[in-house]
Amino acid sequence: MGIKHLFKLSSRHRRGYGWPPVTPVQPAPGPDPSVGRYLCDMAAAPSLPELAPGDRVQSPLVILEVASRGSGETAHTILSFGNASGRLDSAPFWPGDQHLVAGLRKGQVAQVIGEVQLYRDRRQLKVTSLRILPRNAVDSRQLLPAIHDPAPFWEVLDRWRGEIRGPRLRAVLALLFDDPEFRERFGQCPASISGHHALLGGLLKHTTEVATIARAVSRASGADGDLVLAGVLLHDIGKLESYRWDTHFEMTDAGALLGHVVLGAQMLDRVVQDTASPPCSDEEFLLLQHLILSHHGRHEYGAPVLPMTLEAEVLHFADNASAKSAAMADAVASPENFNDGESISTRRIWSLENRKVYRGRSDWGG
Ligand SMILES: [Fe+2]
Ligand SMILES: [Fe+2]
Repeated sequence: MGIKHLFKLSSRHRRGYGWPPVTPVQPAPGPDPSVGRYLCDMAAAPSLPELAPGDRVQSPLVILEVASRGSGETAHTILSFGNASGRLDSAPFWPGDQHLVAGLRKGQVAQVIGEVQLYRDRRQLKVTSLRILPRNAVDSRQLLPAIHDPAPFWEVLDRWRGEIRGPRLRAVLALLFDDPEFRERFGQCPASISGHHALLGGLLKHTTEVATIARAVSRASGADGDLVLAGVLLHDIGKLESYRWDTHFEMTDAGALLGHVVLGAQMLDRVVQDTASPPCSDEEFLLLQHLILSHHGRHEYGAPVLPMTLEAEVLHFADNASAKSAAMADAVASPENFNDGESISTRRIWSLENRKVYRGRSDWGG
């Protein structure tokens, strides 16, 4: 049994798994006549984070959350809508409007008509019409944020992987990274469902960032750069079984119950042990497993074991540097986090340990 067995087994965990009908990070094809009535031009999709009060919306949006709040006369429902540009919450649906939201579920796609309003300095969408669309009526690339082009990231990772000197290390990585089905899914998978690199193709971008950082730290610290790069490539492969990404990003049951760290170690175990002739020694296999299992660095961050090798230490900090700097860049760039004209965010950012962020800039006279 080899790579095919890996995906056969993993499909058990991926019931209802989010497979976009086409590779979502490629340029959009022309309209599909079978869904032509609903399929919208991507250029016409509104940029939700940039809409101003008074702007009208008439567009397919995915329902990211259905939140019931209050009780009695103050009972109301708030929907969070999303598309490739970002997200926007609805105005409350009060008891008189409940017919509009009855039976709605997270992950459904709806044709939404409404107008942006301001309430307590926060924008919200006052919905006047909402109609659920067939699941395949809207291209997932219109509904989910994505990296622009996966090709440059693959070019970098494949080139660096090809420079690894040890043939056994290259052979282990090839079991996954030379497999077309694995590559397709790795190139689509987000790196998180709501935190850093929460994009179609986000895992590929994150992995390339970690590799760039880890190579530099390996040279500075004297770590084995080839082994570190292998750890970088493998460290988050469990996310392919932890997340689904059809109309929205969501945790699978396997992701919730086991987590991507353990799932990744299991995936590597299956693919290596199931080959007729294992490509590396038992000790080498343990070193790779250790890189995956320790990359979160601390037990409280989900690491079953703590880094015990220099390479594992480098991987952990490179992974953290990519995740934290991306979260900070997103937080500072998001208009949602700031009142107009203010530089300090109005809210604390969960993915940055509940810190506020500052977006003030100077050209320093340059
Ligand atoms: Fe991770
Ligand atoms: Fe990571």
